[in-house]
Amino acid sequence: MEKRKVGVIGATGMVGQRFLTLLQDHPYFEVAALAASARSAGQTYEAAVEGRWKMATPIPEEVKKMVILDAEDIPAMAARCSMVFCAVNMKKDEIKALEEAYAKAEIPVVSNNSANRWTPDVPMVIPEINPEHLEVIRAQRKRLGTKRGFIAVKPNCSIQSYVPALTPLLKYGIEQVVATTYQAISGAGKTFREWPEMLDNVIPYIGGEEEKSEQEPLRVWGKVENGTVVPCKAPLITTQCIRVPVTDGHTAAVFVKFKSKPTKEQILADWAEFSGKPQELGLPHAPKQMIHYFEEDNRPQARLDRDLEGGMAVSVGRLREDTLFDYKFVGLSHNTLRGAAGGAVLIAELLERQGWFD
Ligand SMILES: NC(=O)c1ccc[n+]([C@@H]2O[C@H](COP(=O)([O-])OP(=O)(O)OC[C@H]3O[C@@H](n4cnc5c(N)ncnc54)[C@H](OP(=O)(O)O)[C@@H]3O)[C@@H](O)[C@H]2O)c1
Repeated sequence: MEKRKVGVIGATGMVGQRFLTLLQDHPYFEVAALAASARSAGQTYEAAVEGRWKMATPIPEEVKKMVILDAEDIPAMAARCSMVFCAVNMKKDEIKALEEAYAKAEIPVVSNNSANRWTPDVPMVIPEINPEHLEVIRAQRKRLGTKRGFIAVKPNCSIQSYVPALTPLLKYGIEQVVATTYQAISGAGKTFREWPEMLDNVIPYIGGEEEKSEQEPLRVWGKVENGTVVPCKAPLITTQCIRVPVTDGHTAAVFVKFKSKPTKEQILADWAEFSGKPQELGLPHAPKQMIHYFEEDNRPQARLDRDLEGGMAVSVGRLREDTLFDYKFVGLSHNTLRGAAGGAVLIAELLERQGWFD
């Protein structure tokens, strides 16, 4: 199979760099175009990221000498690639306009940005949970007047640390969820070198994060009706999102109350059996086991467990009964892999296999 030529918009950033490492030697995709702001445009990738390459592995050879384009130069991007990944730090209305302009130029966009997460005909997908939401692309294409162009997005990084674990439990009627997330500094696109104030520190505020963490799960669990995604109304979710001195990996401490309380054994069996389309299709970035349960009391730990199955699995531990709620547990997921670039690559793999890019 000839590889699809893809572009990365925001290639110089934290998530953009993750994209490039994940797309190295990818069986379906080949990076053929890089874009960022006008500040980086015109430079080779190597020069543009000098002193700010944040990955543990070196810059992939094939992109080092590639010249970065201005993300606004859509004709130049369209000449080089036939879909783009997008992760940029811009104002919401600018991102919305940018993503729509690419879609209208018949370049499908798979995005990490939040700008289009509530556009009714834009699917917001965790491929194991709601792959059927991709159907709304048909209605979106009608609205945009495109044949092939569309936008698909992934949800906020925080929710991957508890939503996958809650999904197979929805059948027991989840009524209430309390989740406190302990979020890594890479979630802000930062390292300790760039953010020394985070050493020996905890910051009890991440702008906009609690609203996203409470509302986005309801859209992911929503139903497709007349070409749009209608969010579900329950469960009631309340969150606190806290920045902690961890490089990568968002942890969530979760309390949950059910209409019909399952046994601990039922929950563990549901987690062990949970899998979806990516596993069925054997997609390149699908973890073999989506949810790993740890019996040890001191797991999951960010340092030990965030890279499980290439950072695409979700780790869960400490499931026990609670005095106020029915159960409590701890979840962990890698925020720039499963929670950002990896999650987006998995969506693109599913789109590719289902023929949405053709
Ligand atoms: N980090 C995470 O864990 C995470 C998780 C999920 C979602 N996200 C989302 O992903 C996006 C990027 O996050 P990040 O952490 O990678 O940010 P980042 O490290 O600050 O990178 C931002 C990127 O956006 C580019 N950019 C800024 N202004 C631009 C403009 N006017 N036109 C085109 N490109 C522009 C930058 O290019 P220059 O280098 O040229 O300035 C850079 O490539 C954000 O929407 C964020 O909310 C991040």
